[in-house]
Amino acid sequence: MRIIIEPDHVAVACRAARLVADFIRGKPSCVLGLPTGSTPLGMYRELIRLHRDEGLDFSEVITFNLDEYIGLAPGHRQSYRYYMQENFLDHVNIRSQNSHVPDGFTRDFEGSCDLYEQAIRDAGGIDLQILGIGSDGHIAFNEPGSSLASRTRIKALASETIRDNARFFESEADVPRLAITVGIGTILEARRCLLLGTGSAKASSICAMVEGPVTAQVPASVLQLHRDVLVLVDQAAGEQLQRRAYYEEVERVRQLLDAGELRQLGIGKP
Ligand code: GLP
Repeated sequence: MRIIIEPDHVAVACRAARLVADFIRGKPSCVLGLPTGSTPLGMYRELIRLHRDEGLDFSEVITFNLDEYIGLAPGHRQSYRYYMQENFLDHVNIRSQNSHVPDGFTRDFEGSCDLYEQAIRDAGGIDLQILGIGSDGHIAFNEPGSSLASRTRIKALASETIRDNARFFESEADVPRLAITVGIGTILEARRCLLLGTGSAKASSICAMVEGPVTAQVPASVLQLHRDVLVLVDQAAGEQLQRRAYYEEVERVRQLLDAGELRQLGIGKP
């Protein structure tokens, strides 16, 4: 895992957007896995700005969202489809047929989950999976205890998640109890992962994910088994990391290597 600690959530958003933009420029027809929640909002805003001001082109990009509440119509203000349209898709040139969000309004749950997996496969798999993290360590809606090999399916939300997400609804009772979520196995198949974490409410789950054991009780910890993961956090979310000095040193060395400053690394000195 590569860990980058930025000063605050604005810096996380800008860096994440820059990474995604560079990725798209490198592969204009890439397949992106996208998260919802409050954490990625700044990244989406910055991507919209890059599209508007710098011509970042999404015309060939394909997107798959991680999850959707069950029982909310796509036009419901708290559905993730609505969130995506409002906060990102309506403001860039992604073709509507190229953006996918699981169908939470279906009654054929199993069929719809299988179709979603098939659509990801048909698109060639996820090139870059962007993720947030729940305060209980979940990724997408894979709650603690989820199979680490799981595929797209229905999950019951944990009480902690219902509490956390109640802020978007009129009351806790209005938060759907079920969601469709891509599985942990699905996420692990992405070629690259970028996980964003901001704010002190995420500090313990970030620490458990990065420095704790790999366990289904902290679903995000499975990312330790993925070979290309970047964890991008702000100071508050990174504050419980024990080895932060080392992560910062790794970044310093990387920058010197990238700049060809080998002498500063003690390479080539007589
Ligand atoms: C939600 C979503 C996750 C998201 C997480 C964190 O429940 N299903 O995909 O990463 O919770 O949300 P937030 O960024 O609002 O803290």
